[in-house]
Amino acid sequence: TAEVPRLTVIGTGYLGATHAICMAVLGFEVLGVDVDRERIARLASGEVPFFEPGLPELLTKALDSGRLRFTTSYEEVGEFGDVHFVCVGTPQLPGSDAADLSYVEAAIGSLAPHLRRRALVVGKSTVPVGTAQRLTGVLHDLAPAGTDVELAWNPEFLREGFAVDDTMRPDRLVFGVASDWAEERLRAAFKPVLDLGTPVVRTDLATAELVKVAANSFLATKISYINAMAEVCEAVGADVKDLADSLALDDRIGGKFLKPGLGFGGGCLPKDIRAFAHRAEEIGVGQAVSFLRQVDDINRRRRARTVDLVREVLGGDLAGRRIAVWGAAFKPNSDDIRDAPALDVARTMHGLGGDVRVHDPVALDNARRAAPELTYGDSAFDVARDADVVVLLTEWSDFREVRPEALAEVVKHKRIVDGRHALDAAQWRGAGWEYRALGRS
Ligand code: UDX
Repeated sequence: TAEVPRLTVIGTGYLGATHAICMAVLGFEVLGVDVDRERIARLASGEVPFFEPGLPELLTKALDSGRLRFTTSYEEVGEFGDVHFVCVGTPQLPGSDAADLSYVEAAIGSLAPHLRRRALVVGKSTVPVGTAQRLTGVLHDLAPAGTDVELAWNPEFLREGFAVDDTMRPDRLVFGVASDWAEERLRAAFKPVLDLGTPVVRTDLATAELVKVAANSFLATKISYINAMAEVCEAVGADVKDLADSLALDDRIGGKFLKPGLGFGGGCLPKDIRAFAHRAEEIGVGQAVSFLRQVDDINRRRRARTVDLVREVLGGDLAGRRIAVWGAAFKPNSDDIRDAPALDVARTMHGLGGDVRVHDPVALDNARRAAPELTYGDSAFDVARDADVVVLLTEWSDFREVRPEALAEVVKHKRIVDGRHALDAAQWRGAGWEYRALGRS
């Protein structure tokens, strides 16, 4: 059919809010639903509850068009939608490496009884392989008898900070489907994106689930690979930056996700590799991806090594020393502090007695809530006042643009530890600073 489907988006977190807003901007009628009333009220009044460049403007545009609405009622969702996107979170279970599927199960459980006409339910959440097949059964059990419903899986690859672009112009779309009808419905629900020539891979449900964790595992492995080389470089006085630059010039390897430093964090990479390793063990193929445990270990060791480097620079002891920390977010252009290497390192240094003062251009409020024991400041210079050492942990452009001569005016000692290879070593050394970075002598 050529009919344009009406879309619903279940879960209005990072992924769901972005998807709902972008689809409305692309011309679809969209209804977003969440159990969090406050979040729904904020979105409905035009406020994006997290930092994402470009998204607030698009929310206003979508609301003004009348094509985007929000609700807390699943009944309304069932009545309204032809294609339902499940975008709820699958965080790491506390005390385990497994993914918490309770939100996905609750979403399907709340939606299914309200499906009264033919509908496609599309999972976008990152789930352990095999989940979609199981949920297909749940969906059929809970939907009213005689209703024709089907489940598909369409993994999402958006990056924080580039969420709008990644949604409107993705590298590829993966459609995990069990029928031609489901593929046709998905094609209709992504028509404006497909019209740009976006490649589609049609596959089965299990493969679609796996594509997501396989992609994130590959990216995490690439980062830990170069960070493992940094460990070797440190032992022999070699330079991992030059090593990475040299590898990057081989276009079979490429420079993306090959930046050495403090390593990866955030709401996806760390929990996805753990959940994947855990799931693989459950289904008897743990050995095949046991290297992901090492990828995780290498990544954690970078944080410890950063603390050691600061200690070394300070002559062996952090106690009572004033330490300026630049960055709290897990990466620049994000206010996300989930599993943030920067905040982790700041906390450890505080725990070792350091007088730690943190600045981040946008993640300050989130950091304050998560780590109230730390001291915070409103600018890079503010936290650097009288510092014994400045430690750059998230490579915001604000920090990269600081002039060493200007910063020298406020610090106590001209020492800087660059946890992200974000600064020009020669420039800082030239201005009389002791410049240190992971994996470089
Ligand atoms: C990631 C995936 O890129 C995205 O496709 C998926 O949908 C969700 O997970 P995101 O978590 O937004 O996206 O962040 P990303 O830009 O991938 O960075 C992840 C982490 O890796 C950051 O902490 C970043 O600082 C670190 N990183 C990245 C490196 O340490 N070195 C690199 O070379 C690249």
